[in-house]
Amino acid sequence: MTDRSLGAAAMPPRTEIPSAPQTDATTLPFERPEPARPSEPTASADRPLGPTGRPMPDLPEPTPVTEHGPARVVAMCNQKGGVGKTTTTINLGASLAELGRKVLLVDFDPQGSLSVGLGLNPHEIDLTVYNLLMQRDVTLDDVVVPTNVPGMDLLPSNIDLSAAEVQLVHEVAREQTLQRVLAPAIEHYDVVLIDCQPSLGLLTVNALTASDGVIVPLECEYFALRGVALLKTTIDKVRERLNPKLEIDGVLGTMFDGRTLHSREVMERLVQAWGDTVFHTVIRRTVKFSDSTVAGEPITSYASSSAGADSYRQLAQEVLARWPAE
Ligand SMILES: Nc1ncnc2c1ncn2[C@@H]1O[C@H](COP(=O)(O)OP(=O)(O)O)[C@@H](O)[C@H]1O
Ligand SMILES: [Mg+2]
Repeated sequence: MTDRSLGAAAMPPRTEIPSAPQTDATTLPFERPEPARPSEPTASADRPLGPTGRPMPDLPEPTPVTEHGPARVVAMCNQKGGVGKTTTTINLGASLAELGRKVLLVDFDPQGSLSVGLGLNPHEIDLTVYNLLMQRDVTLDDVVVPTNVPGMDLLPSNIDLSAAEVQLVHEVAREQTLQRVLAPAIEHYDVVLIDCQPSLGLLTVNALTASDGVIVPLECEYFALRGVALLKTTIDKVRERLNPKLEIDGVLGTMFDGRTLHSREVMERLVQAWGDTVFHTVIRRTVKFSDSTVAGEPITSYASSSAGADSYRQLAQEVLARWPAE
């Protein structure tokens, strides 16, 4: 291992990693994981190791749904940009829709990448999440648009949303605004995925307050581990003060490159710190994701049989196994 790969001061070479769990905030910015959830598929020792270094469990085949709702609301959250939040929102959403789930995606980033990634022109969107948040006379039905993926709808955004962060400060129950406006959607959908902006400001707090679960996409780079302690603190505060039901559904390793020791070491650290909260599914680095963004569609339709599409389909199976029975 080279010093450059992980930063010798912050992270000792592999052989020096003590076997006892570390708790130092700089090297391991996490608390010990919760015990594995009972609903989670169990793995036996004779199974081949998956990319996270743990035996890969058999994921149960998702059961078909006959009726829709109530939705599980999940925030895709990490205050770092470029870690795969938007890519995961689009492709997990599309994969869940392929499994017959009715999915609503919420673009909650003023950059509007989710809307653009689904083929919308941000300047041509008439009503956005901003109008829904700020104008009492605008309803969810006025703003929601279908996507090219059957069964998947979108609440689009554009730069207008950046004003909401400031304007919401003066509102009554400002942290609950998104929860209030999403309430009518809960009975119609099976899953609502909120694509958060890269910050821990009021918009993200709104997303966490409106959610049942959080998925944390993390780029498999050492510096990606930094800042997760702060995210965890924010999630804990929202749980204590605003939303007692909020759970961390999982941590997702993205842009993984199994050929590099670096990626594998970061993954090892993630599993040391978060245990079975880390999804067995990892998303490998491939240019197909940028290509599909340019094409304005999910990888599951742009490159339907690619490894990237299959990874997100596997993630969909894994989240359905983790979530409480529908
Ligand atoms: N697994 C991946 N491999 C390669 N590129 C990826 C992968 N996931 C996302 N990208 C690309 O990385 C960039 C940032 O991803 P994005 O999902 O927009 O992150 P975020 O929403 O966290 O800012 C985009 O250009 C996207 O196409
Ligand atoms: Mg994004």
